[in-house]
Amino acid sequence: MRKPLMAGNWKMFKTPAETQAFFEKFLPLVEKSTHCEILICPPFVNLAAAAAATAGSGVGVGGQNLYWAPEGAFTGEISAPMLKAAGCRSVIIGHSERRQFFGETDETVAKKTKAALAAGLQPVVCVGEMLDERESGQTNAVLERQFRGGLGSLTPQEFAQVVIAYEPVWAIGTGRTATPEIAADAHKFLREQVRGSFPDSAAGVRILYGGSVKPDNIKGLMAQPDIDGALVGGASLEAISFASIVNF
Ligand code: 13P
Repeated sequence: MRKPLMAGNWKMFKTPAETQAFFEKFLPLVEKSTHCEILICPPFVNLAAAAAATAGSGVGVGGQNLYWAPEGAFTGEISAPMLKAAGCRSVIIGHSERRQFFGETDETVAKKTKAALAAGLQPVVCVGEMLDERESGQTNAVLERQFRGGLGSLTPQEFAQVVIAYEPVWAIGTGRTATPEIAADAHKFLREQVRGSFPDSAAGVRILYGGSVKPDNIKGLMAQPDIDGALVGGASLEAISFASIVNF
């Protein structure tokens, strides 16, 4: 049985004080929510505030990115051991915004995923097609390429720690969420990819959906058998809204 994971990706929003205020409001709303795991990924500068606020609560904290070297002369970067030491449980890797704006490739996703695993962090690895790729019938080819390129070189033991997030780029921040059926097709295809490369993990790997997830569409998405949770952007910034997604 796969335990759902509800993850908030705050992107470049909130200060440490706003982080603390969010958790003061959010934690009481999810105190009894043991049906799923909960994760918040704030900007790096808020990790200390998030770790302090969530200590002992069961709510996990994660990074939004990392660099693969453990330390070194890499101005502006943050390593996996640093995230771990700052209280992170997980880290988002290969988000489409990083692929689009910051030169992330399947190759860097693979390096970052291995670095995260080596530091004991759970990688939440994002895949997803752009609108033109969907419209030209390339969705599965893109997902297969991203899956193989980003995750194909892991050992089965490593892969067993990974969470996949399917985020169709055309649904991110647009209010145009994938229908549960469209999402379900992609999740089914991704699980088949896992079955081909890591058969022992096919039944257990969690595949999250991301892209305009809101309190009013989460139920339909979670009703799909291959959707094991959500990676939520905008609607995770507000405590009541994210709590109602968690408590769908
Ligand atoms: P939105 O929920 O704002 O569409 O963002 C989705 C996302 O990119 C989560 O990683």
